[in-house]
Amino acid sequence: MSFQLFKDARVNVPEAKADLTGRTVIITGSNAGLGFQSALSVARMQPARLILAVRTVGKGEEAAKKIQEATGFSRCEVWSLDMLREESVKAFADKANVDLDRLDIALLNAGIVMSQYELSPSGNTTQLQVNTYSTILLAKLLLPKVLTTARLPKLATHADFKPHISIVGSFVHFDVSRASLPKDLAEGSIVKALNRKSDTGMGGYNITKALLFLLTDELLAQLSPAERDMITINTSDPGFCVTDFFGTSGFLLRLYYSLGATLLSRTPQTGARLLTWAATQPTSQGAFIAGGCVERNPSKFVTSDEGKAIGQSLYRELTAEWKQKLLL
Ligand SMILES: NC(=O)c1ccc[n+]([C@@H]2O[C@H](COP(=O)([O-])OP(=O)(O)OC[C@H]3O[C@@H](n4cnc5c(N)ncnc54)[C@H](OP(=O)(O)O)[C@@H]3O)[C@@H](O)[C@H]2O)c1
Repeated sequence: MSFQLFKDARVNVPEAKADLTGRTVIITGSNAGLGFQSALSVARMQPARLILAVRTVGKGEEAAKKIQEATGFSRCEVWSLDMLREESVKAFADKANVDLDRLDIALLNAGIVMSQYELSPSGNTTQLQVNTYSTILLAKLLLPKVLTTARLPKLATHADFKPHISIVGSFVHFDVSRASLPKDLAEGSIVKALNRKSDTGMGGYNITKALLFLLTDELLAQLSPAERDMITINTSDPGFCVTDFFGTSGFLLRLYYSLGATLLSRTPQTGARLLTWAATQPTSQGAFIAGGCVERNPSKFVTSDEGKAIGQSLYRELTAEWKQKLLL
């Protein structure tokens, strides 16, 4: 994978062009890093509403101010969303379903890497909770609004654009194979099995992204053929970007990061160009956008029958748990 990253770090990433007049966009984790840079790009496209979904409202307000200073765009709204807590995800989605008359783009970007073993209030490792489960829960909860938007009369600008749910994955999922996961993944106890202590740090982070691809495929598989025609769900990889992503992690992760940064990295602006492109341009249904905004195959594991079967079981298990908790 490193050679691909080396090549990707040097490839031209085109700037997305779109007039988003009249449209509503949500970007999670948009106070910093790639989410913030994506919000800057989207602001230049003049949407009717740009919702900065952030875990610390003060940081979001600061970001909104910076966006206004840089672009003149004054329609950022700062909404609270803590992806560590499922009830915050539910409250955010409930607000979106009530307050928004349309939702054209949900760019689900928020993510973390953790070097310590920590559990979320639901008992999952924090990185699985934030990167994987809460991202899919949020996508599921926003889906009805995105489908409703697709049924509205077409807007005059960017007319052929289908509403998008665009999920930020990572090249690191290529490092995950069946052997990276616990041996025993029996239906009904997969969530529990995945909360292993050994899966902190980079290895565990890679797993969160591989599972995110598998669960996104499942989300897509739940749509009817007519619904699949109306909207686009895709995934993206911004490449290795210099952000604060490894800022609070341990020494080894920061070492990995600084080694990678020397040879393989892109600026956050370049990485965000890719995320913005995936979120605002027409792509194939289920596409994985990477490199210079091209459609690529995800890893062999993610596309294998074995991987898909794990994705299906995990999706069933999570959905049952969320229904039981009245989150769905
Ligand atoms: N940087 C890379 O090389 C790279 C490569 C591939 C993929 N990615 C992916 O790109 C995405 C953005 O990463 P980045 O590099 O921009 O990292 P970043 O600078 O650390 O930004 C991460 C964003 O996610 C937010 N976030 C973290 N935990 C959250 C929670 N519990 N609830 C809501 N928001 C939360 C952060 O908010 P706070 O500021 O409050 O912490 C921040 O806004 C992640 O999904 C990451 O996995 C990054």
